[in-house]
Amino acid sequence: MSTSAGAPVELAVALELAASAGDLLLGYAESGVHRERKSRRELVSEADVAAQELIVAGLRRAFPDDAIVAEEEGGSSGSSGAGRRWFVDPLDGTTNFLKGQPRWGTSIGFYGPDGLAVGVVTCPPQREIYHAHTGGGAYLNGSTISCSDVTEPDDAVVASGFPYDLEERSNLGEWAIVTRKALAVRCLGAAAIDLCDVATGRIDAFWEQRLGLWDTAAGIVIASEAGAIVTDLGGSPLTSPSRDVVAANRALHSRLLPLLR
Ligand code: IPD
Ligand code: CA
Ligand code: CA
Repeated sequence: MSTSAGAPVELAVALELAASAGDLLLGYAESGVHRERKSRRELVSEADVAAQELIVAGLRRAFPDDAIVAEEEGGSSGSSGAGRRWFVDPLDGTTNFLKGQPRWGTSIGFYGPDGLAVGVVTCPPQREIYHAHTGGGAYLNGSTISCSDVTEPDDAVVASGFPYDLEERSNLGEWAIVTRKALAVRCLGAAAIDLCDVATGRIDAFWEQRLGLWDTAAGIVIASEAGAIVTDLGGSPLTSPSRDVVAANRALHSRLLPLLR
């Protein structure tokens, strides 16, 4: 995918690696895959690990000194001395992937010391690639995207999800509250793509808590560049990856946030 003139080199590298990972993952999806349980509710497959190896090796080649935080085992490396950090979820939506649901993909986010942030999220089964960088707008398959203008929870389709470990801050209480207020709630199983759906207006709002930094790093950039307000549960705007996230247009965000506190 081509990017606009002046786009950062980090974006070009992230797009290339996410596309290669997508091809690899589609191959595994067609041929079947070995899986294991990481914990009671969390699955991991050889596809997650192979996609991470491909992406991390590519980032290492292009930016040998950068820090990389990646989801699967052995996934943190490099020095963050220069304040350059990558966040990689090689396969977001593993459970969807393993069930044959066409909603999964790769998320690659980059945060630099000078305020530059880059986000790339793919959904290979839908042939969709989202990208953004600070100040450059947000794009789906190269076309500009923007978040919805639905302002009232009554009219809003709101997505969320649940941590694998439900013992602490499970999100079940918030889910019950928002379900009563919203037009509809959805649990779609891939947080990075949920943030991109806020960016296109396919959903009006998204919140989740206790995510991984790799889940949110790219989607925060994409949703923000599409005009969404993206904060933590306290309402502080996010300029770095966060485990808690609330994203919507400004008016809807201001009405949703008090329901989650
Ligand atoms: C998960 C998905 C899911 C969210 C979980 C995440 P994974 O990521 O994004 O939507 O609810 O909290 O851990 O395990 O499929 O990469
Ligand atoms: Ca994930
Ligand atoms: Ca994952």
